[in-house]
Amino acid sequence: MPKSPLMNPTTSLLRPSVFSTLAAQFKFLPAPPVPLHLGDTYRAPPESGRLERAVGRLPSNGYAYAHPNGLEELRSAVAERLATKGLPGYSADHIQVTQGGSGAIATFVRTMIAPGDEVLLLAPYWPLVRGIVLSAGAVPVEVPFYQALRQGVPAADILRPYLTERTAALYITSPNNPCGTVVGPEAARAVAELCCQHNLWVIDDQAYHDYVFEGQHTFLATLPGMADRTATILTASKSFALAGLRIGFVCGSPAWMEAARRVATHLWYQVPVVCQLAVLGAVQDSEEWLDETRDRYRVAADLVHRKLQAKFDPSQGGGYVFADLTEELRGRPIIDYLMEMLHEGVCISPGDAFGEAYNNWARICYTSVPLAELERGIDRLNRSLERVRAGLPLGG
Ligand SMILES: Cc1ncc(COP(=O)(O)O)c(C=O)c1O
Repeated sequence: MPKSPLMNPTTSLLRPSVFSTLAAQFKFLPAPPVPLHLGDTYRAPPESGRLERAVGRLPSNGYAYAHPNGLEELRSAVAERLATKGLPGYSADHIQVTQGGSGAIATFVRTMIAPGDEVLLLAPYWPLVRGIVLSAGAVPVEVPFYQALRQGVPAADILRPYLTERTAALYITSPNNPCGTVVGPEAARAVAELCCQHNLWVIDDQAYHDYVFEGQHTFLATLPGMADRTATILTASKSFALAGLRIGFVCGSPAWMEAARRVATHLWYQVPVVCQLAVLGAVQDSEEWLDETRDRYRVAADLVHRKLQAKFDPSQGGGYVFADLTEELRGRPIIDYLMEMLHEGVCISPGDAFGEAYNNWARICYTSVPLAELERGIDRLNRSLERVRAGLPLGG
């Protein structure tokens, strides 16, 4: 008898897209809402990173299979750039080109984490990391971290209660998506010490390292004892507004990089050459564009800090503010409120996607639309909050 066609059991643990319920409603609205739910940018990428240019640089064998490691020139350029950003000592041998930042995290998890291992996810966290861990048969353990840190609780005190015999790794991101927290040097040192004491792998998600506005940013791999146990994750999606090209990097010790390369080879073999060439252009020549983009994002963050009438910690970098709407919701499910908010002409993300402790929270992205539209979106959001506080229906 043939085995009935069952799915891999980990598939049923994966959640649908964060916004699918909300986005399904858009077609019933008189006009599209201001999209503050997206985790993307309105900025066009730097000229140096455009595909049009990359096509002109394709070698004569540019349509053939290429090396699974990624282009050597790109890996070297990333290593050089990392040195200028505070992570020196890397070469092409420390870097694997992956399918976006998501692919970089998945590659490391599949290389280093065994089924049944526990992975501490410092929460709130970027939503897909949970599914990436589950897909590898590992166990995500959510640690509400960033708000406690900002309230002054020592990092080690927050983490220690979650450590068990099975803890194998820790995932951290700074600046954080969704709350915009930058983990300062003292907390970074405490996290690193704890990871060394407990012999943990570290996934240091640096997707937003180019967008720090406040506080001192640290690459965990630079701290004592951390170089060999840390995977530094980078993505062209966030650094250079090139999300559609799907190029990321997992960076770390050559001691495990060879194994990571075998894993990546068996996932997608290689990522498109033309996309790698576009990102190479951006890596080599985009600092002016980055300065301008960072300034624009900072202005956008300031606007949200000034105008948004909700409870939140100011964003220190990245592109998001995470608001606690517990008082406004008074026990109502957040998704009901966000569905009604669509009728006020604005969409934001439900907090439960970022961790179980955040059912009453919501993420607002301040980089997804230009400033004037952002202001319009925040005005609409404020109006909806006012009406909810007054017990009035929305969209009236
Ligand atoms: C913190 C963080 N890490 C990783 C990623 C994944 O990046 P990519 O879109 O390149 O896969 C994202 C994307 O939003 C992110 O916010």
